[in-house]
Amino acid sequence: MGRFSGKKIVVGVTGSIAAFKVAGWVSTLTKEGADVSVVMTEAGSRFVAPLTFAALSGNPVLMDMFQAEESHAISHIELGQNADLLLIAPATANTIAKLAHGLADDLLATTVLAADCPVLIAPAMNSRMFGNSITQRNISILADSGYGIIGPAYGKMACKTEGPGRLAEWEDAEEQILQALSIQDLTGQKILITAGPTREALDPARFLSNRSSGKMGYALARTAARRGAEVHLISGPTALSIPYGVKRTNIITAEEMYAEVMQSCTESTVVIKAAAVSDFRPKKTATEKVKKENAEFVLQLEQTDDILQELGEQKAKNNYLLVGFAAESCNLREAGEKKLKGKKLDLIAINDISNANTGFEANTNQITLLDSNGFTDLPLTSKEETANLILDRICTQLAAHS
Ligand code: CTP
Repeated sequence: MGRFSGKKIVVGVTGSIAAFKVAGWVSTLTKEGADVSVVMTEAGSRFVAPLTFAALSGNPVLMDMFQAEESHAISHIELGQNADLLLIAPATANTIAKLAHGLADDLLATTVLAADCPVLIAPAMNSRMFGNSITQRNISILADSGYGIIGPAYGKMACKTEGPGRLAEWEDAEEQILQALSIQDLTGQKILITAGPTREALDPARFLSNRSSGKMGYALARTAARRGAEVHLISGPTALSIPYGVKRTNIITAEEMYAEVMQSCTESTVVIKAAAVSDFRPKKTATEKVKKENAEFVLQLEQTDDILQELGEQKAKNNYLLVGFAAESCNLREAGEKKLKGKKLDLIAINDISNANTGFEANTNQITLLDSNGFTDLPLTSKEETANLILDRICTQLAAHS
């Protein structure tokens, strides 16, 4: 199933050179399952032929309001009413001005005015036009009216100037589109999520760590933010970028994670501990790099604090919903049950780390959930879909608690 399966998206293309980039966006949306209808302004059709968008979307491109009505193809009212999302990309200063003042002199402007779905606007124009106080005011009018603004990005433009005004990158636009299409069932929730490994230094060059990539925790952060939560991600070292709309605090050691989590948990309604925290750290950390000649071959270790255990102890006082993970390679259910009880959790996600497609570094996962209602085996699926299924269960628990 594609990420946009079952969604009807109207894409409005206006007269900017960035229209050629939006051909790529329409192609991706369509490949990912969306039913895309493209509406072009007359100026938009000068940059990219309507046939290109028709071929990429598999639907006829609409331009002329009267022609569309006369041929009974579809009316401007229906277009915006049947859609799950309206995306204007690229949006010129002219279209933004028209929309900000409620003009309805072409099919696209009329469609936006009559729409009752979320509307996202991705401006693309010369940086001086973008910086002009009139354009800025118009964008504020649209934002205040509830329209989402995507970007623009900063960089070199076709007109050889550099500054803000470039069409946003697809990765940023995609995230805002997904957010606009998601049910906002976590609005009002403050979710603290930990992710990634921790590193415990042996000397300035070496450390003890584990194979966690952070992908599961980041997927949870990204999808929770998409569903309306305010997300604070406390992350060990990973190669992953900050998910859209998420506040990230970077830590290295278990001790640093402990301090950050304990400080933030008091403000959280949900705490999810997806991090693979080191259970041990070296008893001594050498200040200089240990040389081969004087190396000791026995490593003295001490235990780190169990952060989840401490969160369990403090749960009654702080009233958050507490979710843990169990990374196991055998006796999964037994180990999960022990951790759920022992750490006073509301929910535990039991993860078989012995399989290549469910463990560390994989893009997929297969989790068994355990709460007071018993075990639920989730399907083997992407980490993002797994995150959504875990969040569904958290929503059910939150509803039961309130
Ligand atoms: N955890 C933690 N602090 C630690 C160790 C683990 O908060 N010092 C959390 C993890 O984030 C995870 C849960 O405890 O949510 C279970 O971690 P796991 O490594 O599966 O189990 P441990 O409790 O460390 O026990 P063991 O390694 O013996 O299985």
